[in-house]
Formats: sequence, C-alpha cells, structure tokens
Amino acid sequence: MSSRCRCSPAPARPDRPERTAARTAAGVQVARSACGRPAGGPNDPLLGGGTIRPVAEPTALADLALEASTCTRCPLSEHRTQVVFGVGNPQAELMFVGEAPGRDEDLQGEPFVGRSGKLLDRLMAEELGIDRSACYIANVVKCRPPDNRDPRPVEIATCRPYLAAQIDLIGPTVVVTLGNFAMKLLLETTDGIRSVRGRSYPFGPGHLVPTYHPAAALRSGGAVVAEMRSDLIRAKRLLGWSS
Ligand code: URA
Repeated sequence: MSSRCRCSPAPARPDRPERTAARTAAGVQVARSACGRPAGGPNDPLLGGGTIRPVAEPTALADLALEASTCTRCPLSEHRTQVVFGVGNPQAELMFVGEAPGRDEDLQGEPFVGRSGKLLDRLMAEELGIDRSACYIANVVKCRPPDNRDPRPVEIATCRPYLAAQIDLIGPTVVVTLGNFAMKLLLETTDGIRSVRGRSYPFGPGHLVPTYHPAAALRSGGAVVAEMRSDLIRAKRLLGWSS
C-alpha cells in the first residue's frame, strides 16, 4: 500500500503539465472531491445512477489493483480464475485499452497474452519501436466473460470506475482503444469503429486514437492490419515519438 496520504496531491510530473482536479476525458471523467480524491459518491455520474458502489479512493495503481483483485461487484467474478487488472509502466505516456480478458489472460493474469496479444506486441514493436513494458495495457472489464461472450452493459458500467481511475492515475498522453467496446465507452458514442477510426480525438489533456481490436485484424487480414499500423503511426506522432 502507498504510504502517501490519500488526500495529498500526486507528485508533480516534470514531463507533463500538472493534472487538474477533474479530468475532462469523455467517459472517464473522474469526479473529484475537494481534497482531490475521486469522488465516487452515490450520485457520481460514472456509477450509472448511483446503483453501483464506488471504487474505494485509490492513491496509487497498486492500491487499486489490490482492491480489484477481490472484486465481486458483478457476476463476472463468479467465473474468473483471477482479475486481469492491467500491465505495464504506471507512468506510461501511451495506454492501450482492450475489451475483456480471454482464456489465456484469465489463466495468466495479464492482458493480451494470447493470439491477439502477439499481434499487438508485433505491431507495437514494428510501428512504435517499443515493447509492452513501455506502455500500459488494460481492458474495459477486468474479468473474463464466460465463453468469451461480449461484456454486458451492467458489467461494463460496474467495472468502469476501475478503468477511469487507471487512466487518471497513469495520465497517458495518448490512449489507443482496441475495438468497439473501449472506443464506445471512452468516446461515449454509439458509432462503430469503421466510421470512427482514422483520426484522433481530444481526450482529457491528451488524445484518443481508436483502432481495431487485434482479434478483428486476425480474422480480417491484411487490410485491417494496415489500418491498425496507420493508427499506431498517428499515435506515435501525437506522442512526439516520430523523428
Ligand atoms: N482481448 C481483449 O480485449 N483483451 C485481452 O486482454 C485479450 C484479448
């Protein structure tokens, strides 16, 4: 557990502007109480009308991961082997957000370790010149839906405060969403990935770059992989990593 007081501000990050009390990223707005903590009260708009208990006020990613590891707020907890919270650099400038853990992820406790993850790792290496330890990877829901079905709206709503807090604590400059679920949640849109991708969107103090889910690229082949590559190049430019 962090020894920092839960009410104290996060340490200043010299590499980026000070983050303000309330992040304005669409869909992941973390409401703040006067002391700067995530508000998470019964009327918190993140919590879907106050029917879902808030995540306890986390001051660090490790605290949040610990809390998530025993989460039983939705029925997905009944089927999981373990919670797949997220992996990578807690100060990453780049964050990927996928949909939900699959079988491999449920067993290993890490996002994107199966076939989709192998493709993601390859595209990351080839287009961004990094491996996964240089970024942060998380999912919309942290527990595997049975039989790899789509996560349900109530499961997404229940898990949403975890993702919101992850984004707030990490403070990435660029969030790359992988597939429809993450994109629709974070951009608060019902439009599909085909019409939304191909550009970036303001997201809090940074940017959101929507791209396909790697599983879609594995199914569809070269053209989709090529579009994913161009989306990653867009992210690279926004990060200032292009020469
Ligand atoms: N698909 C996802 O969306 N997330 C994972 O972690 C693995 C596969």
